[in-house]
Amino acid sequence: MKNILSMSQLSNQEVYELIDSALEFKSGKKSTIGADKFAINLFFENSTRTKSSFQVAEMKLGMQEIEFEAATSSTSKGESLYDTIKTEESIGASVAVIRHSQDEYYKDLVENHNLNIHIINGGDGTGQHPSQSLLDLMTIYEHFGSFDGLKVGIIGDLSHSRVAHSNAEILTRLGAKMYFGGLNQWYTPEFAEIGPHTSVDQLCEEMDVVMLLRVQHERLSAQENESFSKENYFQNYGLNKDRVKMMKETTMIMHPAPINRGVEIADDVVECDKSYIFPQMANGVFMRMAMIEAVLKGDNVGNEVTDKKRQAILR
Ligand code: CP
Repeated sequence: MKNILSMSQLSNQEVYELIDSALEFKSGKKSTIGADKFAINLFFENSTRTKSSFQVAEMKLGMQEIEFEAATSSTSKGESLYDTIKTEESIGASVAVIRHSQDEYYKDLVENHNLNIHIINGGDGTGQHPSQSLLDLMTIYEHFGSFDGLKVGIIGDLSHSRVAHSNAEILTRLGAKMYFGGLNQWYTPEFAEIGPHTSVDQLCEEMDVVMLLRVQHERLSAQENESFSKENYFQNYGLNKDRVKMMKETTMIMHPAPINRGVEIADDVVECDKSYIFPQMANGVFMRMAMIEAVLKGDNVGNEVTDKKRQAILR
């Protein structure tokens, strides 16, 4: 596995292997696969969780981070994304975690260039968010031990959500049944092909996993933002205590965060017994360790071969 760019790239077996590896890291497995290696986290869109989580994962694997802030980098002087990455590769980075506003920014990098640096997609526009999806899968798997037949409802700004795109695709492939809720205009044909749209009350009564999404105001039109009412949204689609009471005993509440309290979720629900929002973030570090290890493993196999060759020559 050279790069991790989208969930569609990963086979079911690779997904299960990443979950197993992340669970082993959580149980205390150690790895020094990153010793003497450098990572760069190129975030061209804002982030709290994904960036910090990758930073911690890199440190736990023995890597050192090359500091990068988009606002003070030479991208402001017109440097292209390829030139930035090629520069970091030349300087010595082995792994680049990239978040970018452009959907599939990575396609040009991997299809038209010969980069040696490993690219892990930290989120592309409204496209994919593989590390979030994988940590969500890990958290669901820890709770239920399987995906087969699970009913998963995603409520919110589906069309702009890379988390919804990644999760709807992979959860279906792993045997879960997908349902959707929220404003009709966000339930685009790509989601209609995957599962039905229903009321939030029904989703709360019937789902094994209720996954909430924030409204992505930065991707809405001025008109959509102007007509948006937080109060109306919360009343029609927000998760409150009454809706939590409708849920089954084992139902999980999930949210990739950042959360907007009082919009898609009530303040007093965020840390309720059924909520896995902060455990998702804790699991994210272990999943990102597994992802980095998976892409670096190939390098070490190569090094072993080189070492063996060298030893043979020296003998
Ligand atoms: N879930 C997620 O991607 O959060 P950040 O935008 O804070 O990284």
